[in-house]
Amino acid sequence: MASVKPDCFRMWRGAGMKMETPTVRPQERDIVQPDAMIGKVRAWVAQARRVVVLTGAGISTESGIPDFRGPQGVWTRDPEAEKLSDIRYYMADAEIRKKAWQARLVHPAWEARPNAGHEAIAGLERRGKLHALITQNIDGLHQKAGNSPECVIEVHGTVLKVVCMSCGWKGPMQETLIRLLTGEDDPPCTLCGGILKSDTISFGQNLVPEVIARAMRSAAEADCFIAIGTSLQVYPIAGAVSEAKEAGARVVIVNAEPTPFDGIADAVLRVPIGKTLARILL
Ligand SMILES: NC(=O)c1ccc[n+]([C@@H]2O[C@H](COP(=O)([O-])OP(=O)(O)OC[C@H]3O[C@@H](n4cnc5c(N)ncnc54)[C@H](O)[C@@H]3O)[C@@H](O)[C@H]2O)c1
Ligand SMILES: [Zn+2]
Repeated sequence: MASVKPDCFRMWRGAGMKMETPTVRPQERDIVQPDAMIGKVRAWVAQARRVVVLTGAGISTESGIPDFRGPQGVWTRDPEAEKLSDIRYYMADAEIRKKAWQARLVHPAWEARPNAGHEAIAGLERRGKLHALITQNIDGLHQKAGNSPECVIEVHGTVLKVVCMSCGWKGPMQETLIRLLTGEDDPPCTLCGGILKSDTISFGQNLVPEVIARAMRSAAEADCFIAIGTSLQVYPIAGAVSEAKEAGARVVIVNAEPTPFDGIADAVLRVPIGKTLARILL
């Protein structure tokens, strides 16, 4: 695990959350008449030189990966499932680890293909406009869609790797999945016998400070910042929206449900992500 600065980088569910008083309210018409607003946002993107995109689980639902907090979200349907993503339960309880590994074995990411939303963001990079792509997702679909690894900032890690919680060794997830299929139910690190875990950030776990710092710096360098498919409830990364706004970027939020940052956005589009991004970004 990387070194930590607990006070600066606490996360999840509003830890350290400062709610901004909205300064700019999106017009109600922007929400109820998205077509006009889509045209406006498309023009902003055309003018922009440094677009920064922040994505959340909502961009991958159209690829068959459920989000956590949306109406069909994993935790909305089964609040107990949250335990599998909590480092305290994971480290303390072998039964939780066994369940977590079984869930990894059937994770929808293995079969998922990038959708029109991921492809539109990859197209934005090909146009030379994408300054950074900050993602809370762990599914690797942005890279599969063609975004370059250097451009993607994975603030919550990736499910494509495993990490040893004792010695820090990292390796491909596929090898551990094979161990599961051949009968191990809680495979230990082959180097030191420590507990293995997917290389993702769980509840109660510290973020990687350098990764968060890079994401925040990129947000502050944006002239157009687009948050897509995120409920913006997970901190500190939700704070990237304010960071971009304060630095003078136009802020656009594309999400089916309201977010705490709608009030400071220049445009809020409560629309399906895939087909909308194709209209805005390409
Ligand atoms: N695909 C993944 O990698 C994945 C999936 C689930 C959870 N997670 C992890 O859990 C955390 C959850 O936080 P989050 O903010 O990313 O997601 P979230 O679950 O809190 O919110 C997702 C939002 O997307 C919206 N949404 C879903 N599908 C949509 C669509 N097709 N069009 C428009 N809006 C849509 C939902 O209404 C919801 O508000 C993330 O930080 C991530 O680490 C990742
Ligand atoms: Zn180890």
